Amino acid sequence: MKIIKLKVKTEKDSYPILIGKNLITNLPKLFKENSINLKRCLIVIDKNVPNKFVTKIKKSFNNKVNIFYIFANEKNKNQKTVNSILEILLKKNFSREDYLIALGGGITGDIVGYAASQFKRGLHFINIPTTLLSQVDSAIGGKTGINTKYGKNMIGSFYQPKIVISDSIFLSTLPKREIICGYGEILKHSIILNKKFFNFLDKKVDAILNLQSPYIEKAIFESCKIKKKVVEQDEKEKSLRKILNFGHTFGHAFEATLKYSSRLNHGEAVLLGMKTALNFSFKKNFLNKKDYLSIIGHLRNSKFPFNLKTYFSLKDLNKIIIFMTKDKKNNSNKINLVLLKNIGRTLIGNNFKKKDLEIFMKRELTN
Ligand SMILES: NC(=O)c1ccc[n+]([C@@H]2O[C@H](COP(=O)([O-])OP(=O)(O)OC[C@H]3O[C@@H](n4cnc5c(N)ncnc54)[C@H](O)[C@@H]3O)[C@@H](O)[C@H]2O)c1
Repeated sequence: MKIIKLKVKTEKDSYPILIGKNLITNLPKLFKENSINLKRCLIVIDKNVPNKFVTKIKKSFNNKVNIFYIFANEKNKNQKTVNSILEILLKKNFSREDYLIALGGGITGDIVGYAASQFKRGLHFINIPTTLLSQVDSAIGGKTGINTKYGKNMIGSFYQPKIVISDSIFLSTLPKREIICGYGEILKHSIILNKKFFNFLDKKVDAILNLQSPYIEKAIFESCKIKKKVVEQDEKEKSLRKILNFGHTFGHAFEATLKYSSRLNHGEAVLLGMKTALNFSFKKNFLNKKDYLSIIGHLRNSKFPFNLKTYFSLKDLNKIIIFMTKDKKNNSNKINLVLLKNIGRTLIGNNFKKKDLEIFMKRELTN
């Protein structure tokens, strides 16, 4: 069993990310090898994670493990779900030395990580991401959070896991739609920080979307490396880490406008948001034409089935702008955006006027 190990340094500690295939067949051994002394744990599992994986995991613990299922969707990514997890931990008298494990995609990881940070001011947290998006992005960096009616991820914490187990076996059952969402974050990492990686993706996109070895593994590894590099330099998102939000201010507003409907999930919203941020970067003359056309060409060749106008019309303009101003990265009527300068380099565009954005979005929704 080949395991790639990346170590993420944090302010106070560090944690390993293990990347490989079939890692879940012997979790207790992996934990032990990585100095995790796990005596008691609660595994919170997304109901959509196929049973065959859960059975393997249970077997690896000799069936002596506490399990709690959740329905992971953006509507349930809320305090109520967190409370139901906390209730079990309290009832079973868990201590801070015990472990809470998330088994699912980014939604599950965000909910469970947040619950872990709240329980008795923090019990040990382990993340086992089961979607491409969570393996390349959300499981790394310690951001946790839940949604409220005021917007996405409005309540949350920075709370680092003890270990992240990224097992590619989970990807075999992921719907194509979810593979594309994960690819969106991989692509984001390349265009904001690594042109060579973008060129690799441009050549191998079909192989990656079809989960072909060794291309999918390389894409996961390179993507994790980029995220690791950024979060190590700026754990609490004071400066550099903001660049990871490329496309997200638009994307979050799109999701919120559709009330987190499953018609447009998070990854799809981010892909649409990235395309919109690219158009904005180009129209404002920040991004050069050659790089703009390369990325737009890449998106077109990859045949991603996304078009802003499939989801929105002019009547949604106001809502989109309101959600953009409410985004937690903004603090007034002015909107801050991460924009692209060229492939591999971003800039933070501070203080765009609401009116400017309105004019731009109006064109995007009508042209
Ligand atoms: N914390 C962070 O730094 C960070 C970063 C990016 C995104 N996020 C959050 O992550 C979430 C998106 O994550 P996601 O795209 O993984 O979504 P998700 O958790 O909703 O998973 C996507 C879908 O795949 C299903 N699923 C999960 N594993 C499966 C498997 N192995 N086989 C079949 N189906 C499976 C899920 O039930 C769901 O329907 C958003 O809420 C977003 O805000 C957080």
